[in-house]
Amino acid sequence: MPAEIIDGKKIAQELREEIRAAVEELKSRYNVVPGLATVLVGDNPASVSYVSAKNRACAELGMRSFQHTLPESTSEDELLSLIAGLNADPLVHGILVQLPLPRGLSEDRVLRAIDPKKDVDGFHPYNVGLLALGDPVFPPCTPAGILELLIRSGTQVEGAEVVVVGRSNIVGKPVALMLMQKRKGANATVTVCHTQTRDLAFHTRRADILIVAAGKPQAVTGDMIRPGATVIDVGVNRIGYTEAGKAKLVGDVDFESAVQIAGKITPVPGGVGPMTITMLMRNTLRAARLSLG
Ligand code: GUN
Repeated sequence: MPAEIIDGKKIAQELREEIRAAVEELKSRYNVVPGLATVLVGDNPASVSYVSAKNRACAELGMRSFQHTLPESTSEDELLSLIAGLNADPLVHGILVQLPLPRGLSEDRVLRAIDPKKDVDGFHPYNVGLLALGDPVFPPCTPAGILELLIRSGTQVEGAEVVVVGRSNIVGKPVALMLMQKRKGANATVTVCHTQTRDLAFHTRRADILIVAAGKPQAVTGDMIRPGATVIDVGVNRIGYTEAGKAKLVGDVDFESAVQIAGKITPVPGGVGPMTITMLMRNTLRAARLSLG
């Protein structure tokens, strides 16, 4: 029997309703409208599309968004001075600098310039530290979305064997930390695989929950999956651009073969993607609440 499809779009929509209601309440009680500043440097097509989806989500949920689009030629000093201004702006509760930055700009320096209280991506070392200690204020968006998908799809996380493929600072590392925490909804046994892992399939076949954030199409195929496992595909690969500039989106998991073996699986698109933006909205709401003191 083919796997149950975990509908990220539907789950994200349910969460967005909850966030919209909370935004409304913050407005009526405290006269505060959560505000997100998005910063895009250059015109990478994927980044342009992510940032516009983030700004659209703000509008949908009754939040303000402040869009800053800068040319590829922007210097680090110019970018740092924009961030200093946003740090000081009381209408801006969250700041998101879309990654990757063009060559020549230091992501480290730029991310460290964001006020940790406005770091809704959770990428500042201070927030990464809190995450490692198990008490994050702003859990990073994609990992937080993955945890929500697992909970809301009824997947048993506590005590489960989780295998994460990929060790990035944005997904692999933080999701592993979050799932191993000693708390309800986590408490998993986590293995992290990466490009130097000797026998990837040996590990993936042991997983009750397989999270694939390898950044590579077809990194995981059906024969690498334990029958009945829950598979979360974090990959977003644009392949086969058409003349109109449209591309087909595929994940890091070969869906056709995986859906025959897995118990539950997220599709691409419509799985993790909508959750990431929803978690960003949740973090922005949280930042606005924290600004009340
Ligand atoms: N680029 C890819 N994923 C992300 C993300 O979650 N946040 C930001 N700022 N940039 C990204």
